[in-house]
Amino acid sequence: MNKRLLSGIQPSGTIHIGNYFGAIKQFVDMQDNYDSTIFIADLHAITTIQNKEELSANILNVALDYLACGLNPNKVCLFKQSDVPEVTELAWYFNCITTMPFLERATSYKDAHMKAKEVTVGLFDYPILMAADILIQDADIVPVGADQKQHVEYARDIALKFNNIYGDTFKLPEPLILKEVSIVPGVDGRKMSKSYKNTIPLFGTDEEIKKCVMKIVTDSKLPEESKNPDVCNIFALHKLFLNENELNLLRDRYIKGGLGYKESKDMLYKEIIDFITPMRNKRELYEKDLDKVRLILKEGAKKAKIIAESKIKIIRDNIGTNI
Ligand code: ADP
Ligand code: TRP
Repeated sequence: MNKRLLSGIQPSGTIHIGNYFGAIKQFVDMQDNYDSTIFIADLHAITTIQNKEELSANILNVALDYLACGLNPNKVCLFKQSDVPEVTELAWYFNCITTMPFLERATSYKDAHMKAKEVTVGLFDYPILMAADILIQDADIVPVGADQKQHVEYARDIALKFNNIYGDTFKLPEPLILKEVSIVPGVDGRKMSKSYKNTIPLFGTDEEIKKCVMKIVTDSKLPEESKNPDVCNIFALHKLFLNENELNLLRDRYIKGGLGYKESKDMLYKEIIDFITPMRNKRELYEKDLDKVRLILKEGAKKAKIIAESKIKIIRDNIGTNI
């Protein structure tokens, strides 16, 4: 039997190149070799989006993104989190065995705490709901970007604690992080992230993508000067699109001098457009048939629910609420 793979993305904004290489591409690459479940973490997104129109539009957009990027609904169980509410029940059980200091150590909470004056209970509890997502589906591996590794480790710790208290109930999931792309840099060189506003949108228009590429921060070396590709933010992004041979050629041009940053950006822009054109076309087809997209999510939820319902029964038995 294949191992069970599970992951999800929050519908909290427009998908960017970092999300694609750090997460979605891995889901697509692995769909043939794992029993895969990929979901839209809409309950998590409510920690930041509290606008009805925006949330529902974002949910559909992530579904379209998943399908356009190549997730095949015949191979992967695709669903939205809120369609399987057993997960919130499990999150409650986990709340009752998890301490505040444990959650205070989560980087997601620390970041939010630094930025916002007040953190909601939902945001504080975010890793618990994520642990419930993973553990209710009996996942063996969880592919995520490096920033989410700690959350998967939280899921393991919570599973261990639950097993200690109530007896063996959960498998221990493993995070899977692709090394070369573990952190895709944004146009300012920091991690590409919605919250830093330094992204290149995966399905932006040509103009939007061009604008982002032209904003990539560089030093002020003139075209004729020799440049160090290893500290160049444009070069770091070329790595995602070029093969080894092409990269070596570009590396030589950087070192030799004569290649301006503008030319390197123009090349990158073209690489991005060539790369996304087939996915864009696929997305347009699905956009014309949103009912089909809704049906795919509904069918996926049915499958996910079968597993969640049988798991929650065992959990209730082990906890003692089943009399
Ligand atoms: P953001 O940081 O833009 O809010 P999310 O937290 O919604 O992105 O991340 C969704 C998925 O994409 C996660 O698995 C995350 O690890 C991955 N991811 C996000 N940004 C990057 C990045 N810059 N490089 C690699 N993976 C990323
Ligand atoms: N926290 C993840 C993110 O922001 C989304 C997520 C929610 C998730 N539940 C999950 C990822 C379970 C993997 C497994 O990207």
